[in-house]
Amino acid sequence: MTSARTRKPDIGAPQLWIGTSWKMTKGLNESREYARGLAEYVAANLLPGVQPFVIPSFTAVAAVRDVLGDDSPVLLGVQNAHWEDQGAWTGEVSVAQAKDAGAQLVEIGHSERREHFGETVETTRLKVAAALRHGLIPLLCIGESAETRSAGGPSRFILEQAAGALDGLTDEQLARVLIAYEPIWAIGEHGRAATIEELRQPFSDLGDEYGGRVRGLLYGGSVSEDNAEALLGIEHVTGLFIGRAAWRLPGYLRILETARQAISV
Ligand code: PGA
Repeated sequence: MTSARTRKPDIGAPQLWIGTSWKMTKGLNESREYARGLAEYVAANLLPGVQPFVIPSFTAVAAVRDVLGDDSPVLLGVQNAHWEDQGAWTGEVSVAQAKDAGAQLVEIGHSERREHFGETVETTRLKVAAALRHGLIPLLCIGESAETRSAGGPSRFILEQAAGALDGLTDEQLARVLIAYEPIWAIGEHGRAATIEELRQPFSDLGDEYGGRVRGLLYGGSVSEDNAEALLGIEHVTGLFIGRAAWRLPGYLRILETARQAISV
């Protein structure tokens, strides 16, 4: 399935990826309003080296695409997509359909999808492959539970999640993948913000394995205006994946500004 209006995911090599998933929030009006404000901001403010991205609900993807326009510096994503291109998969949306609606990026394997919707390492592998097949950027989310962390640390667990999802990719394919490390215990309103110290080792291990090989290594989980700068200072972190703190546009813009300043120092 192709669309004359398909937006191109080829956006060069940003230094910092700063994006937000709106999860299951926002109707069309609110989505359009956010996108309008964001479009105005990026038209008025150069963000060299910073790659913004937004991931609305499926229902709002095409509307946000229309507001942003085809040449927007803001990348647009979906929060999930099926690995088959079409068929009898009631309730699912394929990568091909997501691309047709304007998506350039596909979030894969968020812990909420693993916990509540049966996402497995194998389904994340199939979805990464489907995203790459259609020229979209896979944003693979990995992260351990509090129990796994206290029972010996996250690194082995998250490296296995990543290796399983990225199994069989060529170097060239791997270079198109984003990985977001999001410890489950740090996500959402019941989460606890991770300390910088708690994140150094997992990022060191992820950096050893994937640094320079993937397109970016992002951190997610209770990212806020208050901790964004320190998080971006962790070695191997090349972006932030934000939930609640960016659900209102001013919060997102302040974190984009933090990233812009982090690059310019
Ligand atoms: P949060 O969500 O920033 O609201 O903790 C992060 C995420 O789930 O990616």
